[in-house]
Parts: sequence; C-alpha cells; structure tokens
Amino acid sequence: MKPTTSNEIRKAFLDFFAEHQHEIVASSPLPNLDNPTLLFTNAGMNQFVDVFLGNEKRSYTRAATAQKVMRVQGKHNDLENVGPSPRHHTFFEMLGNFSFGDYFKREAIDFAWQFVTGVLGLEPERLWATIYLDDDESFVLWQRYLPAEKILRFNEKDNFWAMGDTGPCGPNSEMFYYVGDMATCDPSRLNADDDEEFLEFWNLVFMQFDRQTDGTLVPLPKPSVDTGMGLERMVRILQHAHSTYETDLFTPALDEVQELLGDSDAERAEKFVGYRVIADHGRAATF
Ligand code: GLY
Repeated sequence: MKPTTSNEIRKAFLDFFAEHQHEIVASSPLPNLDNPTLLFTNAGMNQFVDVFLGNEKRSYTRAATAQKVMRVQGKHNDLENVGPSPRHHTFFEMLGNFSFGDYFKREAIDFAWQFVTGVLGLEPERLWATIYLDDDESFVLWQRYLPAEKILRFNEKDNFWAMGDTGPCGPNSEMFYYVGDMATCDPSRLNADDDEEFLEFWNLVFMQFDRQTDGTLVPLPKPSVDTGMGLERMVRILQHAHSTYETDLFTPALDEVQELLGDSDAERAEKFVGYRVIADHGRAATF
C-alpha cells in the first residue's frame, strides 16, 4: 500500500531515510533560540547550521527530520500569499534529509528519486527537475532518470538557496510534479509566478559555502546536503487535491469553521480566502 494520509507520508519519509542510515532527529522548536537574526525556525537546516560550518560535531553524519517551520519574516516570508494561494502557508512541516560531509549530489538525487517514485509511487513521466545555471554535475546526474529536456536551468533567484543573508548556502536542485494535461504540458510555464500545474515539492540544496557579511562565499569545510520537502505539498499531490487546503491536514479545521459560521457549501466556497487564512493562522498560532 502506498502512503496517502499525511501521517503515513511523514512516517514513510522518516522510515525511508532511517533505512538508509540517517539519524532521525526531533524537530527543533519554532522559536529560534540560537540565532538572534531569526525569530522563527524557517528551514529544516536551522538546527544544523553549526554542523555545516564545522563548528559542531555530532555522532552522525546523516540525519532526517520532520521540522516545524514558520515563514512570516525576513528572507523567506510567505505571509501575504496565504489565502489566495493554493499552496502557501505561514506554518508548515518540512521533511528533510541532511548529509554533513557524508554524501553529496549523486546520493541526494538518488534518494529523492527512489523515494518519490519507489515509495510514494509518483509517475516518472510527470517529474521535472531544475538546477543552478552552471551545475553541469547535477545535469549529468539527473540524466540517469530524466531526459535532458526535463532538466531546466535557472539563476540564483530560483536555484541558489540560503537561510539568510549570511551563513551556509549553495546551489540547489528542485523537483516538480506536473499535474496538468500531459497533451498540453508547456515547460515554459515551470516556475512562472501564476502557474499551478508544475508543483514544486522538494528542494535539494548542495551546501557548499558560508556567505560572509560582505557577500564573499567561503567554501564549507565539507560539501554537504540539506533538503526540504513540503509535507503539505506532497500530501496535496498524493491526495489529488486542487490545493493544500483540500487535504486531510486542513479539511477538519475548515469543516469546523463552516459549522461555527453556519455557512452553506456555496458560501464556504465563495469565502475561500478567509477560510484558508483562519485554518492556516489557527494552525500556526497553535504550534
Ligand atoms: N533548506 C532548504 C529549503 O528550505 O528549501
């Protein structure tokens, strides 16, 4: 049986990486106590910054987490998208696997491909990858799974990831799932602001640099890996929903709002932005 509920998908992710020698590490708290420039944890890698920088040693070199994340400030801020957007949230869960100087691009791509096609059962012909402009190594590695025309190159805005203005960063490779009609699939729409058919669901960051305050990129002691897959987005894909709000993560809250308001289904549909904001912000405030 393929996982379909949000709980099954989260568990499948952690089980897969545990089977591949990853330490399962608990989510760090949402308030970020370690970094005075960050109010809330905004990525799975936050709790590992010093490990990437080589300032802290752990008993493991591979880890996986289901991290509680809030993106309402600073470099990663999705607040204004919540409501109108079918896929943005303030609070969400980020599933991540990490390598601290252990494996690098090849294994990161292999793990991602095996998990989404083998464990989750995504259709390979609907999968696309993006890479950083000059990342020819990732291009070659992806070609083991995807035809060249389905590996697209983008610049720093889309394919170079950093937690903040300074600290660990590197080129990244994103995975997309096309949910539209295959007969009319238009690759030029991938990464378009108003596109809702190419769903970006997993970001594989190849951590290589420590960005200094003057912008200089200093190589990290060891090339590393930091990935982030939005649980909500994967649940949407596997539950064939038109938005992350129409999944088992949100429908109970939306049903409750409807009952409290005494709205008909038509009224609920008409007021969808408000409903989504209440469900999203209520969840965020709870965590
Ligand atoms: N750290 C990878 C991401 O947040 O996308």
